[in-house]
Amino acid sequence: MNTAVEITFISDTDLGSPIAGKKILNQLEEIFFLTANMKVPLVGQEKKIFFDRWLSCYLDSAKFGTDSFCVIAKNKVGTEPGILGYCVGHISTLDFRKENDNVSLSLFQDLHGKFPAHLHINCHPSAQGLGLGTKLIDAAIVHLEALGIAGVHIVTAPDARNRSFYRRLHFSYEEVRTSGSKSFAFMGRLIKIVR
Ligand SMILES: CC(C)(COP(=O)(O)OP(=O)(O)OC[C@H]1O[C@@H](n2cnc3c(N)ncnc32)[C@H](O)[C@@H]1OP(=O)(O)O)[C@@H](O)C(=O)NCCC(=O)NCCS
Repeated sequence: MNTAVEITFISDTDLGSPIAGKKILNQLEEIFFLTANMKVPLVGQEKKIFFDRWLSCYLDSAKFGTDSFCVIAKNKVGTEPGILGYCVGHISTLDFRKENDNVSLSLFQDLHGKFPAHLHINCHPSAQGLGLGTKLIDAAIVHLEALGIAGVHIVTAPDARNRSFYRRLHFSYEEVRTSGSKSFAFMGRLIKIVR
């Protein structure tokens, strides 16, 4: 693990600064689109909606207050933020869904009582496989535990390579469901793991 990397939560103050905030957003957006699983490249308004739904809404504390959060991995050295990866999430998917309905969230709504929080994580392609994703999930879990949240989940593709990553991080409740022609894999983890 690179010791020159810092794991830190993004605050309103960070984002509110006109120049530094914009740089943070631009870097998050770059990682998002480099890692997004899009069948066809999106442009214009469609691209904006896609970005809003899966990333920038988590940064909108006016809407979600402290119920959503964003933790990043960034280079400690240099003057630029140098963001290498992020993990965004919300502590209550049931509440979040009222604002952001989408099929992968609603498909598993009966499981949101046991695994209330959800996460989205992406690392820059040049920084994958270095342990940063593990650090980001660990930081998110510590945050959720401090808030007294009982469980957390992610939704991914049934055949995604990242499934072994989540399994190693104790997302051991797994269920695949289908909506139309698409299948989704739910992976849930209780915050306090009983071994
Ligand atoms: C999944 C991801 C967040 C893991 O972070 P990371 O820092 O690369 O992971 P770590 O180094 O802590 O752990 C390595 C594991 O991550 C996963 N991983 C690594 N690179 C990956 C990639 N390009 N795509 C998917 N999973 C990957 C693998 O499970 C890997 O274990 P393996 O080598 O035994 O297969 C990161 O690789 C990534 O952003 N991948 C692409 C986008 C993605 O899959 N996001 C999650 C959407 S649900």
